Amino acid sequence: MPDVALVDPELTLTLPRHITTACGLDAVSQLIESYTSTKANVSIDALALKALSHASESLLPLALGQSNDISLREKMSWTALVSGIELSRSGLGAVHGIAGPLGGLCPVPHGIACGKLLFPVMSFVIKKIIEEKNTAAQKRFADIGKVFTGNAGGDDVFYCRQFLEVLDKWTRMLKLPQLSRFGMTALHMGKIIELSDSKNSPAILSPEEMKIILEVVR
Ligand SMILES: [Fe+2]
Repeated sequence: MPDVALVDPELTLTLPRHITTACGLDAVSQLIESYTSTKANVSIDALALKALSHASESLLPLALGQSNDISLREKMSWTALVSGIELSRSGLGAVHGIAGPLGGLCPVPHGIACGKLLFPVMSFVIKKIIEEKNTAAQKRFADIGKVFTGNAGGDDVFYCRQFLEVLDKWTRMLKLPQLSRFGMTALHMGKIIELSDSKNSPAILSPEEMKIILEVVR
């Protein structure tokens, strides 16, 4: 754990696109997982939603051509800082529960692993919290869906689906590479699944579901 973290947007102006994208998606994953954690700390909810709003305004433009816009860099840097504060208070979920062992067993950059896992993992989590009628978790994901798309009426299940649509759109536009490019093979999958867990996710992923997710990102 660092004693001090210096977060200076100016230092990020020259970051290459692939690092901006991967680290941005890591911060977004951390915010989503901690906001929807079973240990979510309500005292910092407003901060987390503000950070997700900043991410939704800045991540795509930064990654797709406006990389030297300091106001966008400020928003994304603040988002990343808040994501670190959030995860230390509320814990993380299934994206990081898989990304940890995956990164330990294969030389996949952490942000790429999280960015690739985000949409398929959240698809399973949303499906399960709807099937299990977990309305408390649905409300948390719906809060994020409203931040991403604006509140135009609709129930929590509607905004859970909006949330997923936005993640799908972002990950398709950002075009992260498949993880086989970094050396992940089918042979790694059994061990990754054995070591992975869902951390504080409101839905627990089975080994079979993790296998499907890993096939998608490999
Ligand atoms: Fe992370």
